[in-house]
Amino acid sequence: MSEPTGAARRRGPFKVGDQVQLTDPKGRHHTFTLEAGKNFHTHKGSFPHDELIGAPEGSVVRTTGNVAYLALRPLLPDYVLSMPRGAAVVYPKDAGQILAFGDIFPGARVVEAGVGSGALSTFLLRAIGEQGMLHSYERREDFAEIAQQNVERYFGSPHPAWQLTVGDLQDNLTDTDVDRVVLDMLAPWECLDVVSKALVPGGILCAYVATTTQLSRTVESIREIGCFAEPQPWESMIRNWHVEGLAVRPDHRMIGHTGFLVTARRLADGVEAPARRRRPSKGAYGEDYDGPGGRSGASRD
Ligand SMILES: C[S@@+](CC[C@H](N)C(=O)[O-])C[C@H]1O[C@@H](n2cnc3c(N)ncnc32)[C@H](O)[C@@H]1O
Repeated sequence: MSEPTGAARRRGPFKVGDQVQLTDPKGRHHTFTLEAGKNFHTHKGSFPHDELIGAPEGSVVRTTGNVAYLALRPLLPDYVLSMPRGAAVVYPKDAGQILAFGDIFPGARVVEAGVGSGALSTFLLRAIGEQGMLHSYERREDFAEIAQQNVERYFGSPHPAWQLTVGDLQDNLTDTDVDRVVLDMLAPWECLDVVSKALVPGGILCAYVATTTQLSRTVESIREIGCFAEPQPWESMIRNWHVEGLAVRPDHRMIGHTGFLVTARRLADGVEAPARRRRPSKGAYGEDYDGPGGRSGASRD
């Protein structure tokens, strides 16, 4: 059986063309591509790439200035945070939530928009594999080009399950029998009509938005369109810990905000969402509420 796309680049001794992530004594990362006969230069001296070619991952190299660097392949979270960007990327912690709660499975038929820098596309392609289908839509040609380069550099070749279309999702989406739709864009509510036509019954819409006003409008618009079960909004936070002897405590700094996620399941055709048993809290839809269309917010694009 042949290996999944890109798997050969993720294991075994270092080869020419591999990405290498060096960690310096202060924990800083430096990423480069291995080329025979080249040197890696730092302000603390240099070393030849040839020293790493054929060496196992986890090797330590020393520069001419006798500084030790640990050499590993970058993991996908490292890769997406260091790759060239067009638009802001989905943070790995949110990509993990999307894969888990968006229930992205091997062989799934997935539609995604926008593509931005291609970070989420790469996570999605890894999860669906060659037997799946990812059709990604991006309105900006320059971002689509950056994303294509980032995805191909990660897998080492074009991914056979990926199709990339330049254009607005709402004007171009013709896919049918889609299992999952993932939206990372300014105005996901503009796409709900076409998305609801593309999704299979039981399929999942997952939207990632940056602000509370976008979150409110997305959730209320999903309710209003009527062919989805009750949407589930949430956010995730990661708190890293400092663990050293008796000093065991949360890190002083953390990433306070990235975005909000919403998932909703597509109902069968002709079915109405069952009425919610819990009534909205008093005033939730009071005189200050001006409907799903009455808000706007800053965004990630
Ligand atoms: C925040 S970025 C997406 C980042 C991407 N998920 C990643 O991880 O690299 C949002 C992108 O959506 C694109 N976009 C916004 N509205 C769109 C639409 N209706 N159809 C297609 N692309 C859209 C923007 O051009 C932008 O590149």
